[in-house]
Amino acid sequence: MDLGLKGKVALVTASSGGIGMNAARALANEGADIVLFARSAEKIARIAGSLAHECGVRTLPVTGSMLDASDIDRLFSSIEETFGRLDIAVLNTGRPPSPLRDAVKEDDKVRWDLSYETLLSGVVAITQRAAPMMRRGNWGRMIAITSASVHLPMPHHALSTVFRAGVEAYMKHLASELGRDGITVNCVAPALIDSSHREGTVAYSAEESTKRRGMSALGRFGTHQELCSVVAFLASVPAGFVTGESLRVDGGMVTYALHR
Ligand SMILES: NC(=O)c1ccc[n+]([C@@H]2O[C@H](COP(=O)([O-])OP(=O)(O)OC[C@H]3O[C@@H](n4cnc5c(N)ncnc54)[C@H](OP(=O)(O)O)[C@@H]3O)[C@@H](O)[C@H]2O)c1
Repeated sequence: MDLGLKGKVALVTASSGGIGMNAARALANEGADIVLFARSAEKIARIAGSLAHECGVRTLPVTGSMLDASDIDRLFSSIEETFGRLDIAVLNTGRPPSPLRDAVKEDDKVRWDLSYETLLSGVVAITQRAAPMMRRGNWGRMIAITSASVHLPMPHHALSTVFRAGVEAYMKHLASELGRDGITVNCVAPALIDSSHREGTVAYSAEESTKRRGMSALGRFGTHQELCSVVAFLASVPAGFVTGESLRVDGGMVTYALHR
């Protein structure tokens, strides 16, 4: 199926590795020009180079933080200068603070504030700058990466659940406001996606890993490719009548939770 993405301009936030980088790759493979945005200058420069080389698309790496208004200003001026348009925004973010804790033990305001900024306020700020550019082209796709925990709270994930529920609510408002401008707004809610790229930062014991795999109806972790091809589909022309949705990519974890 032709996704119709050749020549579209796609911004992927938090894209210096992991899911963000692979979402950028999935869109570049379909011919979209890519804007990368994250704090690690060297990493996004390297990814931009390799996507341009391997996929034959134009790329723009912009170093900055989703928590910093002046970085966001610079991001949108660079997009305007380089491409003069924006068609797609994939709103990926950093992770909530670690270690994970029971909800009643989340009593540290610093962790709440950081989660709000990392998971919710940065996403809102980016969409507010992206929407007028998409409106100008009378076409657009916004896709926020949230979490299946919004649909069935996972133990110790309160910070993630609370603010990603906020993202999902906000995206539904946007879907309603922007629909008549040809802009669709959806969420992709993952769980149990392979995080082995983060080895060294989070270490699950072998026992915990087996337990987590068993939470999926498929008995395994999902891959970044499986997640990011759903992102690419929602970004596509053929997905034009899907809006205001939150699509879980969790291997059936939420639907079959009562079976385990
Ligand atoms: N794996 C799953 O099953 C699953 C489930 C639910 C939700 N998620 C969520 O999906 C998202 C991506 O997961 P992942 O495994 O790819 O995470 P990851 O490997 O930790 O990557 C996070 C990315 O966020 C960027 N980032 C962090 N803070 C930033 C900021 N202030 N401004 C701009 N970029 C920032 C990081 O780049 P820099 O450090 O260079 O800025 C990095 O590129 C996370 O929010 C995660 O919680 C994952």
